[in-house]
Amino acid sequence: MALYDPIARIYDPWSRSVTEDVGFYVDQALSVGGPVVELAVGTGRIAVPIAEAGVAVIGIDASPRMLAFAGEAARAAGVEALVDLRLGDLADPPVPERVPLVICPFRSLLHMEDEPAKLRALQAARALLVSEGRFVFDVFAPSAEDIEETHDLWVEREPGIFERAVWDESARTLSLSVRSGSVSATFALHWLSLPEWLRLLDLAGFEVESTYGWFDLRPHDGEEDMIFVCRGQSK
Ligand SMILES: C[S@@+](CC[C@H](N)C(=O)[O-])C[C@H]1O[C@@H](n2cnc3c(N)ncnc32)[C@H](O)[C@@H]1O
Repeated sequence: MALYDPIARIYDPWSRSVTEDVGFYVDQALSVGGPVVELAVGTGRIAVPIAEAGVAVIGIDASPRMLAFAGEAARAAGVEALVDLRLGDLADPPVPERVPLVICPFRSLLHMEDEPAKLRALQAARALLVSEGRFVFDVFAPSAEDIEETHDLWVEREPGIFERAVWDESARTLSLSVRSGSVSATFALHWLSLPEWLRLLDLAGFEVESTYGWFDLRPHDGEEDMIFVCRGQSK
């Protein structure tokens, strides 16, 4: 069973309040056109609005149940013709096409457990791009304050949906648990610093155009969130 299969049913209600990134990714898609590849498409939280804006999306995910919900969301929005969902690993995506934009929203690259795995994923994204194509993704690195405030506490994130963050600062790993009734799952997220991401992006053949600290396009200035807009380095 894939990591997100057990919680696919509660993923949308759990992430209901996360809306700040949608317009940003839709704008990225509109500025480049499609098709867009979304790595780790999940339930289509971002892919469906991109399709609603008229841009075709190829969505890759390792969880059949998350993809089933994405298919339902695309049908409900009447954009199923623009949303092509494929089961697969983001580090080896089943995408023979070459596209002008690859995105990986909502910190999904942090599922890659170490730097070699992250590098493989970045290289896979790079390989999907046409020349001058863009790769846009967001990740985070927690502040000491955030760790202190949230460590090992169950909080009711949405009505009836509880989450707990257990931080391991030496391993730089967040173990995030979610539960609602009989449904539960725990994921590990492995963060890196900004310079470490920049080094991996360079190794993967990317030139970083912008590093934002939030989806309102403010430049990164030590914020927990990091949003990278990259282009393939010319060969
Ligand atoms: C936090 S969700 C993000 C979903 C969606 N992009 C969004 O913004 O709501 C992370 C997604 O990554 C997927 N995932 C995790 N590891 C993966 C991998 N190695 N290959 C493909 N998908 C993966 C999970 O199944 C899940 O749907």
